[in-house]
Amino acid sequence: MTKSPTKLFDNVAVIPAGPEQQLILANLLELYAHDFSEFRDIEKGPDGKFGYDRLPLYWSDADRHPFLLRMNGRLAGLILVKRGSEVSGDSTVWDMAEFFVLRGYRKRGIGTQMAHQVWKQFPSRWEIRVMESNLLAFRFWVNAISKFTGETIRPTRREKDTECWRLFSFESK
Ligand SMILES: CC(C)(COP(=O)(O)OP(=O)(O)OC[C@H]1O[C@@H](n2cnc3c(N)ncnc32)[C@H](O)[C@@H]1OP(=O)(O)O)[C@@H](O)C(=O)NCCC(=O)NCCS
Repeated sequence: MTKSPTKLFDNVAVIPAGPEQQLILANLLELYAHDFSEFRDIEKGPDGKFGYDRLPLYWSDADRHPFLLRMNGRLAGLILVKRGSEVSGDSTVWDMAEFFVLRGYRKRGIGTQMAHQVWKQFPSRWEIRVMESNLLAFRFWVNAISKFTGETIRPTRREKDTECWRLFSFESK
């Protein structure tokens, strides 16, 4: 498992984020949560921020891995990877905890390349979960996973804490 930046296209890289970049990730996670608030009821704090309590764990827990995406040196997205499923209960799988491409960089194949890169970097069983209400992301994952595995992976439907999820499960070899 490499910790060095991984180049996707000539000018796009997935870069492991250090603790000094926690604020950058926190800021991007605000934009991410705002996107989600369109179809999910997320409560904001009194300071007007959504917040992300678990973020510091990404530098204290060996099974969590934070990444920033940069294009021509500019921030283009984030990925948070962790071990352990949120939906199936399997503690050994890799879970794509958060995955976000900034709006200005979408629909160029960057998300697909980012996902493929991370799956290659963490070979093992993966679970990708997407809220049933997030139709765009559902289409994105169907596409990205089938390109990666070379087959169509059918998701299962799971309910957890009043939320309905589509869960994709596959092996990164
Ligand atoms: C979902 C997301 C990561 C996609 O990133 P992206 O860089 O735009 O994705 P890509 O350009 O690689 O798109 C690949 C495929 O996804 C689908 N897709 C992506 N954006 C789409 C859109 N706006 N409408 C319809 N389909 C779309 C298409 O099938 C596309 O394939 P194609 O280019 O061959 O037609 C991005 O929209 C995002 O960050 N959304 C908000 C956060 C989120 O929902 N994250 C996932 C949480 S489960």
